[in-house]
Amino acid sequence: MKYIFFTLFIFAAVSAEKKSYDGYKVYEVTPRNEAAVNRLQYIRDNGLGEFWDDYLAVNLALRINVPPENINNFLRVLKSSDIQSQELISDIQSAIDQQMKPVSSRSSVSYLSYSWSEYHNLDRIYTWLDELQENHPDVVKTVDKGTSVLGNSIKGVIINYHPERSEKVIGIIEGTLHAREWISTATVTWIIKEFLTSTDPAIRALAENLEWHIFPVVNPDGYNYTFTHNRMWRKNRSPASFTSCPDNDDNSNGVDLNRNFDFYWMTVGATSNPCSNLFAGPSPFSEPEARAIRDYTLRVNQEGRLIYYLAFHSWGQMFVIPYSHVTPEQSLLSGNFPNMFEISIRAADALKERYGTEYTAGLSANVLYPMSGTSFDWVKNVTNVPVSLLLELRDRGTYGFLLPPNQIIPTALETMDAMIEMDRMTRALG
Ligand code: ARG
Ligand code: ZN
Repeated sequence: MKYIFFTLFIFAAVSAEKKSYDGYKVYEVTPRNEAAVNRLQYIRDNGLGEFWDDYLAVNLALRINVPPENINNFLRVLKSSDIQSQELISDIQSAIDQQMKPVSSRSSVSYLSYSWSEYHNLDRIYTWLDELQENHPDVVKTVDKGTSVLGNSIKGVIINYHPERSEKVIGIIEGTLHAREWISTATVTWIIKEFLTSTDPAIRALAENLEWHIFPVVNPDGYNYTFTHNRMWRKNRSPASFTSCPDNDDNSNGVDLNRNFDFYWMTVGATSNPCSNLFAGPSPFSEPEARAIRDYTLRVNQEGRLIYYLAFHSWGQMFVIPYSHVTPEQSLLSGNFPNMFEISIRAADALKERYGTEYTAGLSANVLYPMSGTSFDWVKNVTNVPVSLLLELRDRGTYGFLLPPNQIIPTALETMDAMIEMDRMTRALG
């Protein structure tokens, strides 16, 4: 009897329940002065809501996820300081449930065991990558970039149509460094599919003229966790600097992998607080996922053939150009900033043509928020790759991380348009 109780207890302790977001709402709030910023700081420090944007500044819109028990209090604090708010999502759990429903198969596209009518978990993605190698043995090779905290492999594919051309340039695509940004995963898998099956000459050229190294999920533990425990998880599942954090249901606080790289580490837009979504980790490259990206990128670039490093995130609709800790006035621009800016502007124009979706392009400090320790900045600095970009895919906050599955294919199509134009411009600029 005692023994049974003990096992039950252990079981309950390790299999924490999936977090429910019933009654949670997302509000958009824009502080118009320093006092309002302080007030929002207060709201955050007192845990009244989880900030979907972690950077607080005057005139910068914030989305805040507020649990039902705090809504009255939250609105009262805003009102007492005369801060306007707007309800963006009236019930997060129903938005989450909605997002899990596949679109009708009539309007869907699939290839082998995979489809773009819904979001898929890690197992499904990795199984598909193996199928690709089986079905395209001369072109596709699966590859492990490294191993995550929990022992998952960071699996990707190398797509190489002309192994005999040893001078070919290389593109690396990084998806899902942030766990909850599912549209980045879906878009990266779409790019793989297009490179292997499209008959569009522009896509064929892009696929075949380069050697591609594509990793749909570089944060596999975090991505798994968004399916099994908490849809809104962003970081990896590192037990680093364990502290008891309000919203954590087990012994892992996680590290923001896009703050863990050794380039201006922990200088801006990052924190040493393990409970924060912007926790930079105990030291630069403390996390195996970040080290895997570092080591793999350096190895692939040994002959200096890297031409693209593209990191896919969501949301915001932006092309973010290195470096992210600086402002233009500080003039520490990456060497070919003007080229990358021009390439991004043109790519944004091409993207807009299909459905009218508007993207902005610029330094993170201008289009998003200053940040430090990111992968694409680190890669730019250490390899001097001609084009290193972070793309924030759809949308601009209507659904945020919970982009409905009927937007997967439109997002993927317009993103591919942008990539084609990016490549055309990159070659034109030399
Ligand atoms: N993917 C973003 C990041 O790297 C989060 C974007 C959400 N916030 C926003 N303002 N677009 O932090
Ligand atoms: Zn992100």
